Amino acid sequence: MRVIGTGSARPAKVVTNAMLEGMLDTSDEWIRERTGIVERRVISSERLEELAIEAAKRAIEDAGVSPADIDYIICSNVVNEYVTPALSCIVQGAVGAKCACVDVNAACSGFIYALDMADDRIKSGKAKTVLVLAAEEPTRMVDWSDRSMCVLFGDGAGAVVVTEGDELFVSRLTTKSMLDCLYYRRRLEPTPYVETEEISGPMYMNGREVFKTAVLSSSRDISHILKEAGLTPSDIKYYVLHQANMRIVDAIANYLKLDMSHFPHNVEYSGNTSSASVPLLLDTLSREGKLQRGDKILMSAFGAGFTTGACIVEWAK
Ligand code: UT7
Repeated sequence: MRVIGTGSARPAKVVTNAMLEGMLDTSDEWIRERTGIVERRVISSERLEELAIEAAKRAIEDAGVSPADIDYIICSNVVNEYVTPALSCIVQGAVGAKCACVDVNAACSGFIYALDMADDRIKSGKAKTVLVLAAEEPTRMVDWSDRSMCVLFGDGAGAVVVTEGDELFVSRLTTKSMLDCLYYRRRLEPTPYVETEEISGPMYMNGREVFKTAVLSSSRDISHILKEAGLTPSDIKYYVLHQANMRIVDAIANYLKLDMSHFPHNVEYSGNTSSASVPLLLDTLSREGKLQRGDKILMSAFGAGFTTGACIVEWAK
């Protein structure tokens, strides 16, 4: 496959560290030092589906295709107001596409899982042009009185249009069942028959465990796919990494012994937007004119599951 268009959308509401200092026992200094985050965008008057639709429309416009040309939509999403139908179905109607749609939930790695699925769909000849998007509102999963969680997240949506091509060199997806380190459980409707205790509550995360696992697994994935593609770390123009924490990006840069110019980041202004972080950053790079034809881009993400996904694409837009 080949990326031919990108788009993104973020909520209007900016929540700065200073605003959080006013409601929690936290400080701008702690948040910046531990995460790199300065401010985040948070859903307020918008709905997530509106952001998803906006990101999708921008990617379609950027790709110069008609919605009728899209023959599959894959949306990465963890939560939104609808359990069903899938967010991709809502996007399909709003952008005027007519194709089959599906959502995937691989937590923060979801965009890379979706890209990989799109590549398979194209390779099999079942689709030619696929809209791949990620739309996330993790700020609706956390307890806003818990300083260890709510300061970390932001909301947003990112999208790409991909079509036939040989520009996805290699990808790697891994999953290791690790329920205890990161989860969010929802209570379902009661029935007269349910006898088990149902637990619900805000998202839980063992931050230290996730941090350690993230650095190790992302570094391992990156080494693995570089080797498979026959590339060295410096052959990659940009490492578009999941934007969860600037210290994780720094640790991976350190591991690869590369200077930070290879590691674009926006976590400072977006917070952790789950699976939307990679396409949001990709869209910014593309629109700022930082990507040239032939550049090799490595994307890598990790998240609840524990899932990881990484891939290398050549920019051919
Ligand atoms: O996309 C999903 C993947 N998620 C991630 O990638 C997150 C990975 N983990 C992390 O990024 C880091 O573990 C955190 C940023 C979540 C936490 O940083 P840390 O350096 O691991 O801090 P910690 O959890 O060990 O907490 C250190 C101290 C604790 O106080 P004590 O027990 O040492 O007295 C916390 O209570 O910092 C305290 N603390 C805070 N203090 C001020 C926790 N949150 C805050 C806060 N403001 N917001």
